[in-house]
Amino acid sequence: MRRIATVAGIAAASLVLAACGGGGGTEDGGDTDATGGGGGGGEVEVFTWWAQGSELAGLEALEAVFAEQHPDVEFVNGAVAGGAGSAAKDLLQTRLQAGDPPDTFQAHAGEELTDYIDAGQIEDVSYLYEEFGLTDVFPQDLIDLLTVDDAIYSVPSNIHRSNVVWANPTVLEEAGLDPASPPADIDAWMADLEAVEATGAVPLSVGMTWTQVHLLETVLMADLGAEAYIGLWTGETDWTGADVTAALEDFETLIGFTNTDRDGLDWPEATQMVIDGTAAYNVMGDWAVASFEEQEVERGTGFVEFPVPGSDGMFGFLADSFTLPVGAPNPEGAEAWLDTVGSLEGQVAFNKAKGSIPARTDADPAEFSEYQQSAIESYANDTIVPSLAHGAASPIAVLNAVSDATSKFTTGASDLAGFQEELAAAAGS
Ligand code: GAL
Repeated sequence: MRRIATVAGIAAASLVLAACGGGGGTEDGGDTDATGGGGGGGEVEVFTWWAQGSELAGLEALEAVFAEQHPDVEFVNGAVAGGAGSAAKDLLQTRLQAGDPPDTFQAHAGEELTDYIDAGQIEDVSYLYEEFGLTDVFPQDLIDLLTVDDAIYSVPSNIHRSNVVWANPTVLEEAGLDPASPPADIDAWMADLEAVEATGAVPLSVGMTWTQVHLLETVLMADLGAEAYIGLWTGETDWTGADVTAALEDFETLIGFTNTDRDGLDWPEATQMVIDGTAAYNVMGDWAVASFEEQEVERGTGFVEFPVPGSDGMFGFLADSFTLPVGAPNPEGAEAWLDTVGSLEGQVAFNKAKGSIPARTDADPAEFSEYQQSAIESYANDTIVPSLAHGAASPIAVLNAVSDATSKFTTGASDLAGFQEELAAAAGS
């Protein structure tokens, strides 16, 4: 059964919205130009964390389509560097609380979106789904994640997969490993990591805290399996149980195979270690493929990828989407941006550059790379499990508490038992 965990917040969201009269406040603001979008001119500040490298290239591809579709509105790039929004989200919150929202901002579908809905910070944009004809072009489970009490709070731009290992085939061969035969589970992977370690290469590259949390979520998926992993977010799986302890032990062992300068690196640098052949493996979402492609590293010879061992059959799900903040200075400009984000042309151009797959179901898979075609297939057939590090599984406060606990653990400030207790407290908070 296809299912994405959604956790609580629905009643709270409707209360907040009722209290602030949120939703549809700009309903009459959109004009009806030839492309069906709003766009009364002026500037539109688009707030994301796609500030550099392949992520910036993705944003620029979308910007180019926007310029064609809405030449009267000027795109202003409000990106704040830092993978996974590690710096952007705090800054955004400060701006929202100060009544200084951008015209539109990037947010993940799922629990992260619920944070903004609960706080009355984003508008219901379901009227745009009708105006732009979006209701039938997105998968129903994605629409469900974006919907609270019949209101829809953002327009998705893409779907990424989180549980992917990227590997350098030359480094693997030097360790006597066959790049075409990925390990079946985490235990088998440990043996391969040891073989790489013996060659002097870094077995597994990782970066700063959020990338460590990313690694952690994929180990939990692999070791617990889809049902118990989803149960971590619905309350059905006990965070203090022996299965979780075993997964955390695996995480500890994996961290032992990583580069010691990890806390100073963001994802592009950690992935670059695999591209450069100083590391064998990196676990990263499939925005990483855009980095390989940008540097013309060939799939098969320059890199191989496979699901995190033990998580085959699962699609670690996350989706970026764009919002209309309450009090946006140029709501019509934001509507124009949302028109482009949701359009077929916008989704094809953006996702080709970004490594993700279109959220729309009507894009032609043949337009995309071989890797992306495999992701389209996995998304259609595998069990969808929500990403923790990228806002699908938990509210921001839970992710922040998990991140603090993870950082303490990987810097040696807590032991495994303490780590597990802190994770259980974080998830219960
Ligand atoms: C995720 C986001 C992706 C990608 C990644 C690395 O949270 O959904 O689109 O940007 O962070 O920064």
